[in-house]
Amino acid sequence: MLSRRLHLTSALAVIAACMGCRKPSPEHGAALFVKDCAGCHVQRPGQKSYVPSLTGYFDRKPKPTERQTRRIISYGGQYMPPFTKRLSSDDIDDLIAYLHTSGRHVEE
Ligand code: HEC
Repeated sequence: MLSRRLHLTSALAVIAACMGCRKPSPEHGAALFVKDCAGCHVQRPGQKSYVPSLTGYFDRKPKPTERQTRRIISYGGQYMPPFTKRLSSDDIDDLIAYLHTSGRHVEE
């Protein structure tokens, strides 16, 4: 009985230790951004676009929340398409990690 309880406790400890054990990768986020987002969100010089630039996105005041950011990436906006079918939850974590770098990997 005691050993059984010990097993259960250690199994739970392993699960608990692994929650959040995946670290989001801004590098992977940058690669996804180039593939799926830059076409709209990176402005070409001299061209006016209706799409908001995401450079310095999390430096804005008020600071956008991760929740609202995740929501627009998953479900889209008025003109932005939804990505919930094309991107996994981990992909979206990586994209958000990338946006935290102010988009410096791609835009100058
Ligand atoms: C077809 C063009 C298009 C693509 C592709 C696109 N977006 Fe957007 N995005 C928009 C537009 C337009 C808006 C403004 C809200 C609206 O009208 O939909 C927007 C808004 C946003 C916002 C909120 C910006 C703000 O100022 O509040 C975020 C964050 C965002 N997009 C992230 C992404 C990410 C990450 C990707 C790639 C997975 C992506 N977008 C792909 C067009 C696009």
